[in-house]
Amino acid sequence: MLTRRQALKLGLLTGTAVALPAVRVIGAPDAKAATGAVGPFSVPLRIPPVLRPVASTPALDIYRMTMRESDVEILPGTRTRLRTFNGEFPGPTIRARRNRAVLIRQVNDLGVHTAVHLHGGHNPATADGHPLDIIEPSKGRNYWYPNHQAGATLWYHDHAMHGEAENIYRGLSGCYILSDDHEDRLRLPKGQYDVPLVLRDAQIEADGTLVWDLHGFRNRKAILVNGRPQPYFQVAARKYRFRLLNAANERVFFLRLRDGGAMTQIASDGGLLEAPLPMTIVPIWPAERAEVVIDFSRYPVGSQIVLENAAFMPGESSDVLRFDVVREAEDNSRVPDVLRRLPSCGTPVVEREFALKLDLATGQWLINGQPFNPDRVDIRPKLGTTEIWKITNNDTGDAGPAIPHSFHTHLVQFRVLDRNGQPPPAHEAGLKDTVSVQPRETVRIKLKFDGYVGRFVYHCHLVSHSMQMMGQMEVVR
Ligand code: C2O
Ligand code: CU
Repeated sequence: MLTRRQALKLGLLTGTAVALPAVRVIGAPDAKAATGAVGPFSVPLRIPPVLRPVASTPALDIYRMTMRESDVEILPGTRTRLRTFNGEFPGPTIRARRNRAVLIRQVNDLGVHTAVHLHGGHNPATADGHPLDIIEPSKGRNYWYPNHQAGATLWYHDHAMHGEAENIYRGLSGCYILSDDHEDRLRLPKGQYDVPLVLRDAQIEADGTLVWDLHGFRNRKAILVNGRPQPYFQVAARKYRFRLLNAANERVFFLRLRDGGAMTQIASDGGLLEAPLPMTIVPIWPAERAEVVIDFSRYPVGSQIVLENAAFMPGESSDVLRFDVVREAEDNSRVPDVLRRLPSCGTPVVEREFALKLDLATGQWLINGQPFNPDRVDIRPKLGTTEIWKITNNDTGDAGPAIPHSFHTHLVQFRVLDRNGQPPPAHEAGLKDTVSVQPRETVRIKLKFDGYVGRFVYHCHLVSHSMQMMGQMEVVR
């Protein structure tokens, strides 16, 4: 569990050009809301609709989505022009089942290039949304997801070469929830008690205009949950499963209940942890997922419990979401002591190093001294083998700003071996596809290259960095 001291330590790595805000201990919340004319907790939470397949066979669901501009109500009484999947913000949720394939026809009705990546998915290279596999305006592309991996909260988002930061910011992301039989047998909260919460920020003018500025993360004061500003959510006095996704370009969330109450973390990026984990602060870096169970039966009906971001920036509100306990309800769900056994990653045969650094002379974000070049293959892992990757953040703050990074691998769910030689905290000990690397930190991960050959990318998931801070791997036989 991340203690407050650790959180404070992380938070102290600031004064940076990028992303990591000071963590303050919160007594009275900052009252200033970023919701335009109204205060926080004045709009209800909305749950993104689950997309219905256009056709189904016993082994396959076929979907169709159109990427198009749409005017969406974010701040009450205003419209905000966004780039959306099917006019929805966030995009519609795909509910998929292990070993049952999904085929999505994506049509691009935007005026810009797009590419759709299923983040966390174990998929063939042709379906991975490589930055060069773009969908041109008024064209389409089919994405084939076999879904052989275990249940997990995945998400899809744009990945077009040099376009992803703006496209994601303008709305192109959504949840892809993969379930499986094993998970069903655990009897975790399900149905209306299994709720995705997509967290992000945005800079929105009072008239609803969305402001895009690649490096303008400090001005993104509107905190959105499922596309609504600091909403409230009416819950029953029972257990809920929340699938938290940080879909922000740069912002980190250190989530906690304002009353200090515990949340039980049950899953990370790649699905269930081995055992449930009591947490008072749940840190989620961009692109990470954390699933928590909150038991509202400990609160009397009529209670209001605020979920807040302990890592808010000065002058901001820490408010994220308010749970209003409005009724009693039956609860047959449970959180068992053992959630699953994690698959073995095998014995490593290769060790590689990745040094992350902003080049102060050119302003380029580099891995091992080089910016992304899609014509260059950086590494060639062998199919079926296991590797150790040592990732070091050299933006230490000594000569230049201290900058956090967040390292993501396509194709592979990895295990974190250690952070600066120390075993990872328990919430990072499950399957991961994204891991934060703080200034001066070295994080070692262990990954097994299974299933598919071909070209994939790995990169920093602070997406204003990722157009350069990206490398290419070709998995070979
Ligand atoms: Cu979430 Cu390469 O992406
Ligand atoms: Cu970065």
